[in-house]
Amino acid sequence: MAERMRFTGKVALVTGASSGIGRACARALAAEGAAVVLAGRRRERLDEVAAELKGEGARVHVVVGDVRAEATAAAWVKEAVAAFGGLDVLVNAAGVIGNGSVMDTTAESWKHVMSSNVDSILHMTRAAAEPLKERKGAIVNVSSVAGGVRPYPGLASYCVSKAAVDMLTRCSALDFAPFGVRVNAIAPGVVVTELHTVTNAVADYPAFLERGKTTHPIGRVGNAEEVATLILYLASEEAGWVTGANVSIDGGRALASAR
Ligand SMILES: NC(=O)c1ccc[n+]([C@@H]2O[C@H](COP(=O)([O-])OP(=O)(O)OC[C@H]3O[C@@H](n4cnc5c(N)ncnc54)[C@H](OP(=O)(O)O)[C@@H]3O)[C@@H](O)[C@H]2O)c1
Repeated sequence: MAERMRFTGKVALVTGASSGIGRACARALAAEGAAVVLAGRRRERLDEVAAELKGEGARVHVVVGDVRAEATAAAWVKEAVAAFGGLDVLVNAAGVIGNGSVMDTTAESWKHVMSSNVDSILHMTRAAAEPLKERKGAIVNVSSVAGGVRPYPGLASYCVSKAAVDMLTRCSALDFAPFGVRVNAIAPGVVVTELHTVTNAVADYPAFLERGKTTHPIGRVGNAEEVATLILYLASEEAGWVTGANVSIDGGRALASAR
């Protein structure tokens, strides 16, 4: 058990809990006492995480679906409230990466990336609004250094989707503030997960990670567990006066530019 138990008695819903940052975040929330709703498409993967966390004494519930659909988001929140009686924390970690320059991004791939990364968060935020207002809860959106912070060549739809997440976060922060609900985003650099490999987003992943030693001034890429620590801080009452922020966690990558 973690030494700190900031989420005892709290209920958290984490999208993208079958892999990477979402999974690490679900584990960390459970370790600090939260009842966690694990959301994603791959039931088998979610069941594995659920079994692991249950084995450690956590209260968990699995919900399955494609969060690009508004009805899925609504059903997930409904199930979360039915399972655990309310909702305190929403972590929007589900997302995909898509390659392509502005010139060669097809309408289809643009739509796929925007619906996976932006519509999903809008759906989840709207679906969770009432339960979060009831508990004065918090939302953390997983954006990227490739969002409002930095553009990259050949990554148009992804960069635009994450810039949209950043502005959606700020709009949400203002709209929810009167209800005591905080909304923040994080902007990770390269983190070792399945993001780049499930879609072959980079030609040579080991070489990409090796390059990360120089593209990140701190000299290495990140891991999902350290990203989860920031998400938990923003979701916790310790961050009670933080809203509308986009916090970098990127080994200094956003500061660097090629020379
Ligand atoms: N890894 C990085 O370098 C990095 C850097 C900056 C930002 N990020 C952001 O971090 C977030 C998490 O990515 P990750 O790196 O942890 O990648 P990952 O290991 O590929 O995990 C992505 C998660 O999103 C879920 N997901 C994707 N599309 C979905 C959909 N339509 N409906 C439901 N679930 C969906 C996947 O679950 P299923 O396949 O089971 O549905 C999976 O759990 C993403 O928003 C990504 O853009 C990652």
